[in-house]
Amino acid sequence: MKCILMNQNKEVLVVEYNETSKFFDRIYEVKDINYAPYILKSFYNEKDIDNPLFKTNLSEWFKGRGIPAWRDKLDLLLHRFNITAPYELLDKAFGLSLSDQYWLKPYDSNILYDDINFFEHDFDYAEFMEASLSLNSKLITKESSLKTPNNTTDGMLKKAWIIENGTRYLLKGGYKNDVLQPFNEILASEICKRLGFSHAEYTIDTYKDMVVSKCPCFICKDTELITCSQIQSDMKRHDSIEDYEEYIKKLEEHHIENAREKVENMYILDFLIMNEDRHLNNFGIIRDVNTLKWLDVAPIFDNGQSLNMEYYDEDEVHISGNGRMFYEVKPFDEIIEVVRNLKRIDISKLDGVVEWFDELLHKYQYLTKMSDGRIDKLCILLNRQIDKLKELIDDGD
Ligand SMILES: Nc1ncnc2c1ncn2[C@@H]1O[C@H](COP(=O)(O)OP(=O)(O)O)[C@@H](O)[C@H]1O
Ligand SMILES: [Mg+2]
Repeated sequence: MKCILMNQNKEVLVVEYNETSKFFDRIYEVKDINYAPYILKSFYNEKDIDNPLFKTNLSEWFKGRGIPAWRDKLDLLLHRFNITAPYELLDKAFGLSLSDQYWLKPYDSNILYDDINFFEHDFDYAEFMEASLSLNSKLITKESSLKTPNNTTDGMLKKAWIIENGTRYLLKGGYKNDVLQPFNEILASEICKRLGFSHAEYTIDTYKDMVVSKCPCFICKDTELITCSQIQSDMKRHDSIEDYEEYIKKLEEHHIENAREKVENMYILDFLIMNEDRHLNNFGIIRDVNTLKWLDVAPIFDNGQSLNMEYYDEDEVHISGNGRMFYEVKPFDEIIEVVRNLKRIDISKLDGVVEWFDELLHKYQYLTKMSDGRIDKLCILLNRQIDKLKELIDDGD
């Protein structure tokens, strides 16, 4: 099918889109490469617009916007949709998403972005939410349930976009049978709020006896999330601290204010909660899709894989995890060294946060069945990290 890849109202590429393979078989015309997904920049060759590398990367980018093959409980979700692969859903709603403004417009169509985007138009999320988050749900039958931004969400955890009082929220469950992730998201928000770090605001919610985290969409009709992995795609890879430094430099070149501090804040949070999952798609920047201006560092999001314990007994807690720093997996104690001035952190703002977390975990015990022993150890771990950060701040004298 001949289509135009659009970025909101801007025409980007005229393409041949194969509805079966979901591949872009041909690039007929480049309307405006500046408005293309950032990751494609480095594969574009104006002398050979139809080159295979560009088409492959365009197709990969498009597929990458869909539900990944490693989504928790994907088999159940597919079964409920009666499909065999998540990419079958990719183009059901023009490929629209709530994290950017790209969409595929059939070449001869007069349809307008304003008529279809999910930021302004409601979508039917009930069946998808049930299929995604609930243990037992029925086959999805309503055609409208296929036309939602839930077809284009990344990430491993079971999740669903919903609408409440006009606001779009992302609900996320725990991984497999663990229940801790949603609580870690809420803990991260609480820490960020107290320390003044820009963050996505997660709250706790329940869905059919399941605890989920709930976070409002931080993208609006005029913005897009560009993840660090996209930004890094045209940068030389060093597998060292250089990757981080060059990323900061790039953000500064694009005039993002206090870029270094904002990225440092994310690593401070990761240290405090021992987040093992700060891979390059779990942070990035926000760009204005009209002016293409880099507006800001994206608020800190996806902090669920934290406070992991290998095992614990009455006397001790064993932790195995390391943090992520660009392409390297490193101990948290090393990663925190990137923060130039820890003295700017008023650690007293975290007084009482362990007690607050303890209370929160106990409050939902009736649903999570988390043992008192585990809650105790989680709080000990958190306390230990806060104390360690205090020491590092004091040592900086
Ligand atoms: N609040 C949000 N607003 C807009 N996009 C979001 C929001 N939260 C997550 N996303 C997008 O959804 C993707 C998956 O969400 P994430 O929280 O990273 O899930 P997971 O824990 O499964 O990796 C993110 O990579 C990001 O692109
Ligand atoms: Mg993620």
